[in-house]
Amino acid sequence: MNRLERTLGLIKPDAIEAGHIGKILDQIIQAGFRIIGLRMLHLTPAQAEAFYHMHRERPFFHSLVSFMTSGPIIAFVLEKENAVSAYRELMGATDPAKAEPGTLRALFAQNIEKNAVHGSDSPESARREIAFFFPEMELLSVKTPSSLLV
Ligand code: CMP
Repeated sequence: MNRLERTLGLIKPDAIEAGHIGKILDQIIQAGFRIIGLRMLHLTPAQAEAFYHMHRERPFFHSLVSFMTSGPIIAFVLEKENAVSAYRELMGATDPAKAEPGTLRALFAQNIEKNAVHGSDSPESARREIAFFFPEMELLSVKTPSSLLV
């Protein structure tokens, strides 16, 4: 079923350091996503731990927090039909070695940790992650489809 959905995306410190912000946002826009919120910030360790708390028992957790606090990130909210799965498809697999050619991670990621971008893995995660970075008032309201305008 197609329904208008929102998802949370990040451009991670490795991709910002490498100068890929413009290319990544361009691919997202070209793929038909509407960007309804966008901000650049530098996470504290406590914020990165909170964002990735579901991975706290994983062996890579401390390394991940260290990486995600090593430089600024860009957080954005995307809107599109089936945005969660559509953006995960655009990103490609977590490990760039397994990502489909042409996906954001195949193009811009360095390895399974420094993998350039993040996207929510479910509508429930998207709601939590959007609220983590954006108060509702900072998001653009849904544009009325032209077919509904009189
Ligand atoms: P992301 O989609 O942001 O979700 C969790 C992150 O943990 C992931 O991208 C990677 O940056 C990192 N990650 C996942 N698996 C591994 C792994 N096996 N080793 C190191 N980092 C990982």
